[in-house]
Amino acid sequence: MSRAAVLCGLGGWVPAKAVANSTLAEQLDTTDEWIRTRTGIRQRFVIDPGQATSDLAVEAGRRALESARRTREHGGADGGPAPDVDLVVLATSTPDHPCPATAPVVAHRLGLAPVAAFDVGAVCTGFVYALATAASMVTAGLARRALVIGADTFSTILDPADRTTRAIFGDGAGAVVLRAGRPDEPGALLGFDLGSDGGGEELITVRAGGSRQRSTGAPAPEGDEWFSMRGREVFTQAVLCMSRSAEALLDGIGWRGEELDRMVAHQANVRILRAVGEQLGLAEDRLVVNLDRVGNTVAGSIPLALADAAASGGLRPGQRVLLTGFGGGLTWGSAALRWPELHVEPVPGLEGDEPAAAPDTHP
Ligand code: COA
Repeated sequence: MSRAAVLCGLGGWVPAKAVANSTLAEQLDTTDEWIRTRTGIRQRFVIDPGQATSDLAVEAGRRALESARRTREHGGADGGPAPDVDLVVLATSTPDHPCPATAPVVAHRLGLAPVAAFDVGAVCTGFVYALATAASMVTAGLARRALVIGADTFSTILDPADRTTRAIFGDGAGAVVLRAGRPDEPGALLGFDLGSDGGGEELITVRAGGSRQRSTGAPAPEGDEWFSMRGREVFTQAVLCMSRSAEALLDGIGWRGEELDRMVAHQANVRILRAVGEQLGLAEDRLVVNLDRVGNTVAGSIPLALADAAASGGLRPGQRVLLTGFGGGLTWGSAALRWPELHVEPVPGLEGDEPAAAPDTHP
């Protein structure tokens, strides 16, 4: 039988400092009510001065590795002796430094060096792209066991005066471990759909700091160093691209939208999640939602939502799960799997605070 990449470990991490909507309202022309009703977000987490993306990636990675170890101990999906991780793929758009990539230092700090390690940049779709890359390397035999991390610290690139982006984005990370296995096992990644449209580059961008601006030799125009987003257009594109991508994937693997137990979509705005769910014919109780407590953590978003939901019973073995993301580039991507038996620890800072997925009513 052919080889597949199988999910066998999962962990999430957020920084210690939570910022409530009411705190933003003290600093900016906004209100808790506006942010909650327009986005669904109640709070987000931000790093302290001097912290960086790798700090979050290392913690999420450590927890995913521990989850894989404990899952194996408990005879779950990751049974039997297995080789150690030999690949680290980090999805991020806020690397510690413009050069080099952040994945090698993350691998080093986790004691995994000298494994292959590299970054993937696809903004909010980064985790799905990184997952597809690592899964392909595992199925091709280039890696036996991969740590795939999504981590971002957008608080470092947001304009402090921009009420729209500061209301939405937060810092966070999530990680999974993939191992080689069979396509009929729970946890096997059953397919991917990936796409991009560089014609929409301007919708989500940091104008300064790259070769386009630096080659001019002139200082960047004021404000160009900050992240900028054309929110309303991004909203429309996000709904369209995630729905189409999910439908293409489901068609390809022979699942119908109504058969899905859980959709874990990129956590950008609860109105976007509802609109995509509606397109796919999903009842609201099928949507995994944790953006209310973490905001949009960019590449960290999907794995952090997975860890949060898995630890609190929002994802159960055997469920049909769709992952779908959309982000700058423009980029989008989807993946599907049957949820495996996993030992997942609650994300510190989020424990005891249930994700907003309604109780399971689907057998
Ligand atoms: N507080 C109060 N008012 C705000 C605000 C805030 N935090 N942010 C924006 N507004 C204002 C706008 O300035 C605008 O005012 P105006 O009408 O006087 O110009 C008004 O609210 C409506 O703005 P609009 O952009 O149309 O609001 P919206 O309902 O589309 O919500 C977003 C804005 C950003 C929340 C929404 O468009 C969105 O979620 N977009 C997608 C974001 C996303 O997914 N990004 C990541 C993708 S990877």
